[in-house]
Amino acid sequence: MREKIIIDTDPGIDDAFAIFYALRSAQFDVLGLTAVYGNASIEQTTHNALALVELAGADCPVARGAGDPLEIERRAYPTMVHGEDGMGGFAPTTVSKAAVERHAVDFIIDTVRANPSSVTLVPIGPLTNIALALRKAPDLASLVKRVVLMGGAAQLNGNVTPAAEANIYDDPHAAEMVFAADWEVVMLGLDATHDVHLTRDDVAALARDGGVQGQFLQQASEQYFDFHSDVVGLDFCHFHDPSALIYCAKPELFAVQASSVRVVTDGFASGKTIAKPATRFTGQPGWEDRARVSVCLSADGPAVLAHYQATMKL
Ligand code: RIB
Ligand code: CA
Repeated sequence: MREKIIIDTDPGIDDAFAIFYALRSAQFDVLGLTAVYGNASIEQTTHNALALVELAGADCPVARGAGDPLEIERRAYPTMVHGEDGMGGFAPTTVSKAAVERHAVDFIIDTVRANPSSVTLVPIGPLTNIALALRKAPDLASLVKRVVLMGGAAQLNGNVTPAAEANIYDDPHAAEMVFAADWEVVMLGLDATHDVHLTRDDVAALARDGGVQGQFLQQASEQYFDFHSDVVGLDFCHFHDPSALIYCAKPELFAVQASSVRVVTDGFASGKTIAKPATRFTGQPGWEDRARVSVCLSADGPAVLAHYQATMKL
């Protein structure tokens, strides 16, 4: 049976790779995309989500969500990474469908309640929509099948500050709510995504074999690759958001450790995720009664990428 998922997303180049994969894969029933600010404004990420669904030729609702984090002032959009439009300068100017009337938070709550115990939430942006949904409907935690999120780092530095990964940095208070709630959470962060290397050659193969979507991804990811080579000093990109979706389909490609996770919400380490393995530091104040989180510590990068390419090949 196909896994019912809602992707909460801030497209974003790697979001685009993830969304096309999920819409193409026979393993998922994508019930909707919920947009959140992050890689660009909420107006732009909603537009991009609609454009990506259209490019994929899919019939999938898009709901517009939060435009600002819960408590902190919104961080600057990472235009040097994803472009002014979040799509490396290649966001289609028009889309033929509009977002649904309902706010993303209500879309999530209603969809989960209509499909109790069978919806997986896959947040691949800041966790604001998910936290707001939990706040508005505390029963959500017991009704969701699981949450598989892209964000955080357990054993590595961050990617926007030495301490923080971007999605958690953007809204640390929302992330703390998600990790504290009593539901099944998989944290797929930099520890895993840094094992998965996407090269320009991989994207050229996608453009050759993946139809319109592959061609779009090649154009849109040009600036993303430039950022990685010119600023980070890498001749490849870390394959962040698609890895969270691929975890859902192929968990055997990832190593996971049962842990608890807390988030630093202010100061110079704001957005840092601290993961305590379940079997270590027992009895520490602040960690007792903390919800269990499955933290991905590594990935079989070549196999993850091979699975992605095979899925995208027409
Ligand atoms: O750290 C990687 C995450 O932040 C991804 O979700 C990506 O889209 C970026 O903004
Ligand atoms: Ca993202």
